[in-house]
Amino acid sequence: MKSSNTELSTSKAILACLLPFFIILVFYVVLETDHAKVSFRNMLSRFPLARSTHWSRLSSSVSSLGPFSLPKAISSYDQYLSASLEEIETMRASYSRLGWVHKNIGYKLGYPEKLKRAEDVTKLNAKVTRGIVDLAHAEFASQQYHKGPYVPTDLSRVQESLKHFVRDWSDEGRRERDRICEPILSVLRDVPVERRASMKVLVPGSGLGRLAWEISELGFNTTAIEFSYFMTLGMHFLFSPQTTQTSNQHTIYPYANWFSHTRHNEDLFRGISFPDVLPRFKPNLRLIEDDFLEHRGETYDFVATLFFVDTSLNIISTLSHIHKLLNSGATWINLGPLLWTSGGRTRLELSLDEVLKLAQMVGFNINGEEAAHDEDFNGKVVSKLSQAALEKRKRRTVECEYTADRLAMMKWLYQAEFWVATKIDR
Ligand SMILES: C[S@@+](CC[C@H](N)C(=O)[O-])C[C@H]1O[C@@H](n2cnc3c(N)ncnc32)[C@H](O)[C@@H]1O
Repeated sequence: MKSSNTELSTSKAILACLLPFFIILVFYVVLETDHAKVSFRNMLSRFPLARSTHWSRLSSSVSSLGPFSLPKAISSYDQYLSASLEEIETMRASYSRLGWVHKNIGYKLGYPEKLKRAEDVTKLNAKVTRGIVDLAHAEFASQQYHKGPYVPTDLSRVQESLKHFVRDWSDEGRRERDRICEPILSVLRDVPVERRASMKVLVPGSGLGRLAWEISELGFNTTAIEFSYFMTLGMHFLFSPQTTQTSNQHTIYPYANWFSHTRHNEDLFRGISFPDVLPRFKPNLRLIEDDFLEHRGETYDFVATLFFVDTSLNIISTLSHIHKLLNSGATWINLGPLLWTSGGRTRLELSLDEVLKLAQMVGFNINGEEAAHDEDFNGKVVSKLSQAALEKRKRRTVECEYTADRLAMMKWLYQAEFWVATKIDR
């Protein structure tokens, strides 16, 4: 009798502990209020056991162990060399399982030598990943990220980041960049130079920061916001005088980990130098390492989104938040595809028509389709924009690539959509 009473009170105690979780979870799922989300994350972070992969995925980078978090990124860059060498060792083991006749043919083709080259250039890549980790250790020393539980490496995100160095910061990536950055920059260039310093531009999901840096170079007061530490640690490495002192100081071999679609081994093992220019943080360029959806308290004259809106798990929240962060009559410039996160994780996987309709419902006027012809860059109706300016703002399709290998035997071409939209007051 006594033991069943004890069991009963233990069950009650467990239920009582779980009740607050349950209530906030209901808010989170049903109401989707920002406040409920933050409370839920805060509550989870106090319970180490609850920080399972499932919950860290739910709360994304913001949780201490999310897939884009600081511990995850540092651990992944740190283990880049060992994890990559392990992959090469698996390929070597696979080759060595060939019968001796085929192995001999492989030998004559130079396959063991090819694996050795992959190993050599991986070690060279590790100079960069080591530099990223050392700088992160120095800059984030106070955050005690290393005191948490073991964080498994995410090698593919490090490999992806290496390709981003090419996209954003190398001569090799210029062709890809010109296609996507130019439409955005050319709209901004129409703002008279003397007015730019007083205008604020926000670049959400800024990746390795090239677009934001270019905008700041035009003279705008620019804020880059990015929640993946895989990206921001790379940006620190590029922008810090401690790690990057001259242009083209570093060389990476970003294609060596994937042997598919290769014409010549030279293509596979070619080195790409970066950065093509020497970037620095300046008073008119800042980086916020956080979730864009949590960014508030400031408004902007422009929001520029590049390959960003489709990464959202809830496009309505994203467009509403862009709208909220813009001054009255201000401008949203977008260029990107609609590659939704699959597997039912994205709440709404909309077509372009639906996204454009949603933008109007949220309170945007897509330029070139409706009025907006009479507005200047403050959104004030003062004079007509020139025909050339209107042309630049026209909605159109831009064929472009994303971290492509120019020499590969395979191309992934996006028919990305470009538009300029004006915030309408509601
Ligand atoms: C497809 S990448 C594009 C990066 C960059 N704009 C480019 O074109 O190279 C999307 C980026 O948005 C970031 N991102 C997605 N959702 C975000 C959010 N809510 N807050 C901040 N960054 C976010 C991702 O971490 C990723 O770096």
